[in-house]
Amino acid sequence: MARQFFVGGNFKMNGTKESVTKIVESLNAADLPANVSVVIAPPAPYISLAVEKNTQKTVEISAQNVYTKASGAYTGEISANQVLDLGATWTLTGHSERRTLIKESDEFIAEKTKFALEQGLSVILCIGETLEERKADVTLQICARQLDAVSKIVSDWSKIVVAYEPVWAIGTGLAATPEDAQETHKGIREHLAKTIGAEQAEKVQILYGGSVNGKNAVEFKDKVDVDGFLVGGASLKPEFVDIIKSRL
Ligand code: PGA
Repeated sequence: MARQFFVGGNFKMNGTKESVTKIVESLNAADLPANVSVVIAPPAPYISLAVEKNTQKTVEISAQNVYTKASGAYTGEISANQVLDLGATWTLTGHSERRTLIKESDEFIAEKTKFALEQGLSVILCIGETLEERKADVTLQICARQLDAVSKIVSDWSKIVVAYEPVWAIGTGLAATPEDAQETHKGIREHLAKTIGAEQAEKVQILYGGSVNGKNAVEFKDKVDVDGFLVGGASLKPEFVDIIKSRL
């Protein structure tokens, strides 16, 4: 079955009013393919700005993180409901930088994912192994554990996109080979088939993330289980448009 090509841009903690405006305006000016879903995740303080500036129908705005509650005494946290109120429609959950730096557990990430979905956001759920785990040949076990935490409490995966991002490939310039990515994506889909059912697993878009750029994106073109990309560094640059167009 044909899954729609999907490109996410994760700006991480980068940018200013001026630079976020520039990126959105350059996307507005680009001739983007109508059959590619694009989601950009600016830092939370710039979500409104990105929503207001965006004129592309195929581009949606995402948060990078949300909390497990709608509102209350949770200083510094980001509410899914407030993100929706600003006009964003997506959030990331489980990015490896939050798993490692902020020490978010699989269970906490699963709770966030569940709550965000219940409020009406779609979710890009990030998973992936560290270099040590890859060397120990436990990549699929790690991905399975991270996915299982979510599938235990979420049964409808129609609003979830999975981003497989090996930690060793993020921001290093060392992307996984298209063959390695395909093999892992296939394993992820087979695992999902066992846990959420073959029908849902077939529909879930699985993105590859980690040092994707305007040049290497086309190399993944014929990989049947690579349904798109989650892009960090290159999403801040003009080459992001080349990545969006890499399947043309
Ligand atoms: P990168 O980051 O493209 O800069 O490697 C990817 C990500 O962390 O989503």
